[in-house]
Parts: sequence; structure tokens; C-alpha cells
Amino acid sequence: MLNWDDPIGSKKTAPALSEATGAAQAAVVGGAIEMHADHDEHGGKTGLDGIETGAGRVDVSEKRIINATADVNQLLPMKYNWAWEKYLAACNNHWMPTEVSMQADIALWKSKDGLTPDERAMVLRNLGFFATAESLVANNIVLAIYKNITNPECRQYLLRQAFEEAIHTHTFQYIVDSLGLAEGEVFNMYREVPSITAKDAWALKYTKGLMDGQFDTSTLDGAQNFLRDLVAFYVVFEGMWFYTGFAQILSLGRRNKLTGIAEQYQYIMRDESIHLNFGIDVINTIRIENPHLWTASFQNEVLDMLREACELEVTYARDTMPNGLLGLNVDMCTEYMHFITNRRCDQLGLPELYAGAGNPFPWMSEVIDLKKEKNFFETRVTEYQTGGALSWD
Ligand SMILES: [Fe+2]
Ligand SMILES: [Fe+2]
Repeated sequence: MLNWDDPIGSKKTAPALSEATGAAQAAVVGGAIEMHADHDEHGGKTGLDGIETGAGRVDVSEKRIINATADVNQLLPMKYNWAWEKYLAACNNHWMPTEVSMQADIALWKSKDGLTPDERAMVLRNLGFFATAESLVANNIVLAIYKNITNPECRQYLLRQAFEEAIHTHTFQYIVDSLGLAEGEVFNMYREVPSITAKDAWALKYTKGLMDGQFDTSTLDGAQNFLRDLVAFYVVFEGMWFYTGFAQILSLGRRNKLTGIAEQYQYIMRDESIHLNFGIDVINTIRIENPHLWTASFQNEVLDMLREACELEVTYARDTMPNGLLGLNVDMCTEYMHFITNRRCDQLGLPELYAGAGNPFPWMSEVIDLKKEKNFFETRVTEYQTGGALSWD
């Protein structure tokens, strides 16, 4: 079963492993996997190192997330059905930002009293974070993750995800263009606003090493660095840091303000919930296939990463809305981030970091449920969607 419909922990489910990941666990019962992949000069199995005439057919038991010996150019036979299901779900969710009308948003943004100064400042910083965050995530997928994932069904999902990140970046270009915002201001915030720079710099340090030509997942250090990168981008960036921003804009939408942008954020959040859960399944499958990587000290390190990321997000929340607004304030956002961090710990099979943290924004679960709340923002959502695009499952 896909677990992507539960990105904020509205349903408390069993920790860590999806059904498919559990199957992978069963497949490797009996000890650690011996790692003996062929590596190219870049240290990763790219699948571009030649074809051996008459080589044996792909045996599904040789498929691995990292360091596989099976040919990465052959999708079938498939091993990780959860990756393929996420690919199909993502295709069904296809959307484009330009399908959403911005007329009401433009009128509101240009009117003198449509938004308070605090709301305007929050919106700008919110856009400023997302505008480059999407590119950072996309670059990490294409330049750091893809070549090190030696499994074709996971690569198929990564190709789809990379396109979705392009659509998300397009969304911010479209919003900036529609509202006539200063593009230089919005797109430079990741360099110029310390609370945004701090988050981006934190994540970038994990991707940097992977772009080095010598990077290699066949060593303990290399494989653990790869896991760190997956945690930094899938769990932290896409699974924690986007949620303050989602709550802020969706809170405006609930008040019938900037409904076009809010609707685009709904679609982004739906995509991101699959990205997160794909990342969780990849991490959990790697740790099951390579138990020697998931040591007690490594688990503590991952917990430290999540704790640091949570603190950086609280600083960002304070910076974007120092006075509180729209029924949100820093204390509530702090609790929300603690709640979400606990959920991520559960998904990774780690102990929760913030005992007793509750969810101060239960309405977020309703906004996520597009099927139930198609007209949440009283926009004509159904009219421009095609096929099964509105279905979350
Ligand atoms: Fe994205
Ligand atoms: Fe994403």
C-alpha cells in the first residue's frame, strides 16, 4: 500500500516500512548483502559502461537500491512495486501551474488593503524560500541521487519526480510574473535572507560530496554519505521544511485570500507527499538490504540531523511571521514542526524527538484531502483538471 496520503501524520500508522519495503526485508533475511557492483570512473553504477553480449538474464534477486549487479537498463522483471506505484500515482496527479487562474490573486495583491503588511512580508519570504528550494531539490536528484540509485524502477520514479520539481519551479516563476513581483528580490532570498540561507546551506553540504567524481557507494563511508543526503533532501527538505510554508499559504487560502496560489500549493503538497514517501521507502530499503550501514551511532546522527533541521525551521517561522498572523504564530509552528519531526522519526523507525507534541493545525489534513475538499478555496478546481488528476489515490 502507498503511504503517501499521510505526509503530516494525520493518521498514526505503523512505523517505517511500507508493505513493499517489508517484502524487501523478507528477501534479505539471513544477513548483510555483499556489495560488489561494477563501478565506472565516477564511482557509481550508471548503466552506461557497456553491454555484455550473451550475458545472463536479469535475476530479480540481484536487484538492489544501491550497488546492484543487475543491469540498470532493464525495467522488468520488477522488484520494488512501491516505486512503480508511486510513478503511476505521480503521473495521475499531473498538473501545470498555468492551468490555475491568477486573476483574483492579482486583484488582491494590487489592492491597497487586500493584505496586511505582515501578510505581504510573509508571502514574499515564503515564495523566496520555495523559489530556489525546488531547484536545489531538483539538482540533488539529477546530479547526486540518480546515478547512485542502481535500480530501474526507482530511476523511473526519479525521472518523474525531477519533472515535477521543474513544474514546481515553474510555479514560482508564474506567481512572480503574474503578481509583478521583483524577481531579483524573490529569487535572491536564498542568498540574502539569513533564515533561508541557513536552511539551504545546511542541505547543500550533504549534496556537495556526492557530486565529487570520486564518490562511491560501495564503501561504508560512501553509502552512509548517500543515506545522509537522502535524509537531508527527502526527509528534511521535502518532508519537514516545506510544511511551515504550506501551512502559511493554505491558511491564507482558507480565508479566501490568494486562492490561486493556495491551490497551486495544494498540488505541490500532493506531489511532495509522494516524494517524501518515496524517499522514506528508499532509505528503509537500503537499510534493510545493508544493515551494517544503520549502526546505533548512525541512527543518532540522523536524529541529530532532524533536530537541527527542526531548529532551523523554527528560526525560519519566526523570521517569516514575527508577529503571528492568520491564526498562526511561532509557538504553534514550533509545535507543528515537533509533531512533523516525530512523524519522520516514526517513519524511519527511530525514537521520537519531541515527546507529546500535538498537531496544532488539524485543518491541514482536510486541505490535503483534495478529494474531500475539491472546492476548499471556492475556486473552480474541477473545471480545468483532466482525467484522474484530482484524485489523491
Ligand atoms: Fe517540489
Ligand atoms: Fe519534491
